[in-house]
Amino acid sequence: MKALVLAGGAGTRLRPFSYSMPKQLIPIANKPVLAHVLENIRDLAVTDVGIIVGDRSAEIVEAVGDGSRFGLRITYIPQTEPLGLAHCVLLARDFLGEDDFVMYLGDNMLPEGVRDIAAEFRVRRPAAQVVVHKVANPQAFGVVELGADGSLLRLVEKPRVPRSDLALIGVYFFTPAVHEAVAAISPSARGELEITDAVQWLLSSGAQVTVSRYTGYWRDTGRVEDVLECNRDLLRDLEHSVEGVVDESCHIRGPIVVEAGARVTRSCIDGPAIIGAGTVVEDSHIGPNTSIGRGCELRGTHIDFSIALDGARVSHVTGLHGSLIGRGATVGPRPDRTAHHRLVVGDHTHIEVSA
Ligand code: TTP
Repeated sequence: MKALVLAGGAGTRLRPFSYSMPKQLIPIANKPVLAHVLENIRDLAVTDVGIIVGDRSAEIVEAVGDGSRFGLRITYIPQTEPLGLAHCVLLARDFLGEDDFVMYLGDNMLPEGVRDIAAEFRVRRPAAQVVVHKVANPQAFGVVELGADGSLLRLVEKPRVPRSDLALIGVYFFTPAVHEAVAAISPSARGELEITDAVQWLLSSGAQVTVSRYTGYWRDTGRVEDVLECNRDLLRDLEHSVEGVVDESCHIRGPIVVEAGARVTRSCIDGPAIIGAGTVVEDSHIGPNTSIGRGCELRGTHIDFSIALDGARVSHVTGLHGSLIGRGATVGPRPDRTAHHRLVVGDHTHIEVSA
């Protein structure tokens, strides 16, 4: 079995971050989403992985390289425009050859992994095996309609009146039968070749399509809220480890990770929280549910339920909550200490201040 990871796309819901980085490299618990994805694929004993990359391919290639770090062999497959998930299968035709494959969306987090589901697929080899998860708002997803015996009757994209609360999530298993389906379908109203249409095409043509339920934690990290929630969930299992320096004047509660070269002084770290390598924290309160990247500086700051990316600098700001601070961003008081606020804010940035 091979794997096809989708790491192109427009990422409009994750602006402004997606303007400057591929959204699949956003860190969750200080590790890019794509690294979590590739580790899950390695756990399926798959080694040949094709990664679909869009206009931010260079950063993905830099982060993943030839895949040897993950025990994988990576082939990059460029997509010049995000024309849909089924379009990615079309593009990967040569790479996939006549092999079965798992298609994995590069921004989806399934920390419990899909080993059992993959094992089921390997035994039964249906033309397609979709993975579903119970969601509170099925109207926003592709939803499966099941018969009394649990067999798949229909797939409905964003139904107004959903017949179930089981949504398709970002992992699909296919035999080469899918290639005929992706070649047969037409673009949807939004101009994309939809994978749900390809799966529905297989079902309508009499091919076997099965449904597996993933009951663990799942998040599509497409929006800032999802990234923060997912970070909170992953930090829940954090194993305490302090390699950096935390001086005696600090208070620590709960599990924390302080990476090598980080220095924490006169501060309170409320776990779970991670302080990245080389980061300096002084006179601050960090956490809970917070990941601070590498090479950051935090002074006189109180921040919880947040993520700071590498090189962020925050000084003398209290009450930061639910924040995602970009690479090398600076947040702090005016140097002249006047009472004005000065904002240099990128396109589609979102700022909320206390009333
Ligand atoms: P989506 O999150 O559905 O699409 P998007 O990245 O365009 O995001 P937005 O809706 O915020 O604009 O894509 C799911 C995953 O598949 C994601 O990792 C990007 C990837 N993808 C491709 O690689 N090629 C594509 O043509 C599309 C649509 C998505």
